[in-house]
Amino acid sequence: MSDGYRQLLDATIQHLEGLKSRGVRHVAIAPETLRALALPAAKFPISNFQSPITKVVPPPAIKTEPTISMPPKKTSAPVVAAKAEIPNLKVEITSSSPEKAAAFTALRERALACVKCPHLAASRTTVVFGVGNIDAQLMFVGEAPGADEDEQGEPFVGRAGQLLTKIILATGLSRADVYIANILKCRPDTPGQSAGNRPPTPEERATCIPYLQEQIDLIKPKAIVALGATAVDGLLGKAPGITKLRGQWQTYRGIPLMPTYHPAYLLRNQSLSEKRKVWEDFLKVMEKLEMPISAKQRNFFLPT
Ligand code: URA
Repeated sequence: MSDGYRQLLDATIQHLEGLKSRGVRHVAIAPETLRALALPAAKFPISNFQSPITKVVPPPAIKTEPTISMPPKKTSAPVVAAKAEIPNLKVEITSSSPEKAAAFTALRERALACVKCPHLAASRTTVVFGVGNIDAQLMFVGEAPGADEDEQGEPFVGRAGQLLTKIILATGLSRADVYIANILKCRPDTPGQSAGNRPPTPEERATCIPYLQEQIDLIKPKAIVALGATAVDGLLGKAPGITKLRGQWQTYRGIPLMPTYHPAYLLRNQSLSEKRKVWEDFLKVMEKLEMPISAKQRNFFLPT
């Protein structure tokens, strides 16, 4: 039995035991998943697999005297949809170097099948590996996928992501010119909550960061922008804090790294002065990459 299959089995057993402890007695399984589960381990399509559970059947309600009727309580048990096709599985990765594209594709497939954090493997919809140009000169690193990213399998597509996209466009680049990834490839779970995010734990970060390191080593960008405290701390270790560090060049694996605020911070704090700080960090990145900078660009977010 391969390590991957054993890890997957352990994650599934742990997930089922969690459901059982919450009173769930039945789970629905799609017929094709049942057929796949019946295959010998060697033939099991592990890279396509997320969870065999399509639907959690809630425990039967205990009958009591009718009182005031309440809306049905949402189960805190994660409902994991086994998709016929995982949305982000089939992506063609291209590069000027076919060897690099092949190595990146293999790395991506490994990450997509990862179950090293069984609780995240059980709760995620997709593994949000990263997106963009693997020959990019510029790479962005964020914290972890949120709900929108988990749904779509792509980093920075929610509100903060849309702001990041706008900032990238303001430099004259597009998302397709750069590479965007996160410290964590799976959305941090929030058991018992129907919404909300939480930062990754130190254990989750340590488990996941080797994938990011391999991404960086293959892409070899000329500069990295670390977005927010978790990205800076995750890459540089205990750093003095994003407020002190932002705007000052650091080095990560021999690559210049610019720490700046996370776009979510700018959504919370829309003052011109904070926008200008982030923009000044981007101007430094543009200078490092010897990108053309117009007078208009130099003056973005300056008080008039
Ligand atoms: N915030 C992040 O840090 N990463 C994402 O992908 C989305 C939001």
